[in-house]
Amino acid sequence: MAEPRPATLITGASAGLGAEFARQCAARGDELVLVARRRDRLEALAAALGNAHAVEADLTQRDAAARILAEASARGLWVRVLINNAGFGLVGRFEALPLARQLEMIELNVRALTALSHSVLADMRTRRSGAILNVASTAAFQPGPGFAVYFATKAFVLSFSEALHQELKGSGIRVSALCPGPTATEFGAVAGMTSQRFAKVSADAASVVRAGLLGLERDKAVIVPGALNKLTAQGGRLLPRAAMRRIVARLKL
Ligand SMILES: NC(=O)c1ccc[n+]([C@@H]2O[C@H](COP(=O)([O-])OP(=O)(O)OC[C@H]3O[C@@H](n4cnc5c(N)ncnc54)[C@H](OP(=O)(O)O)[C@@H]3O)[C@@H](O)[C@H]2O)c1
Repeated sequence: MAEPRPATLITGASAGLGAEFARQCAARGDELVLVARRRDRLEALAAALGNAHAVEADLTQRDAAARILAEASARGLWVRVLINNAGFGLVGRFEALPLARQLEMIELNVRALTALSHSVLADMRTRRSGAILNVASTAAFQPGPGFAVYFATKAFVLSFSEALHQELKGSGIRVSALCPGPTATEFGAVAGMTSQRFAKVSADAASVVRAGLLGLERDKAVIVPGALNKLTAQGGRLLPRAAMRRIVARLKL
């Protein structure tokens, strides 16, 4: 049997940052596995990039990680780079937002990311090679009144990724958390943001993805793209937590 080929698996590749990860990883020659629910978009992107496989999956489904990896393996691939990018947020008071959607967010942003990370590590360990880039957010650095569950999921992603980064030191496997600030994608529309402010301060997806891939290459535990975002991320350390809570609560997103 032929030796499996290394691949880069990108979740949430049908839009925004994920589609941009796909473009930049394809440009450096990676063979790609593109995952999301909108198959038509994935197939169009895979066809445009070449050397890419579209795998339709709803990552809130419990068996999604196992099914995706089985599909990659059936195509003769092993996952050398995992980019856990799929995620969404919801703006609004916790009790006013539907519970089912918020639990779905936890399934996607937290459970699926954890399951995929666990599933790819066995192969990476055997080969003493691999990398995982988890997309967190600057939301990870403080609580988010008015965006409570989303901020909490991203705090999980940051904490989890930093811990893995440390656990895997010297193993040949790199793990980084990418913490973007506002970025021009479909995120704002999906989250139900109505204010124009988010769009006005948004970075472009290409620069965020470039920073993420470079940071992973350099084995940085935490990558915060952009000077203003770096400052925001530091805010949690410089200001008392109560002040941070009040500031976030006043932001009209
Ligand atoms: N944009 C920002 O301002 C910003 C800032 C910080 C962090 N982030 C993070 O960046 C990551 C990418 O978001 P984005 O800004 O690129 O948003 P986006 O344009 O809305 O893209 C989200 C991607 O996630 C996929 N997705 C959503 N639900 C899914 C599910 N159940 N199963 C599989 N895939 C699913 C979507 O594909 P389908 O709908 O086709 O499934 C889409 O490809 C997220 O983790 C987000 O939290 C974004």
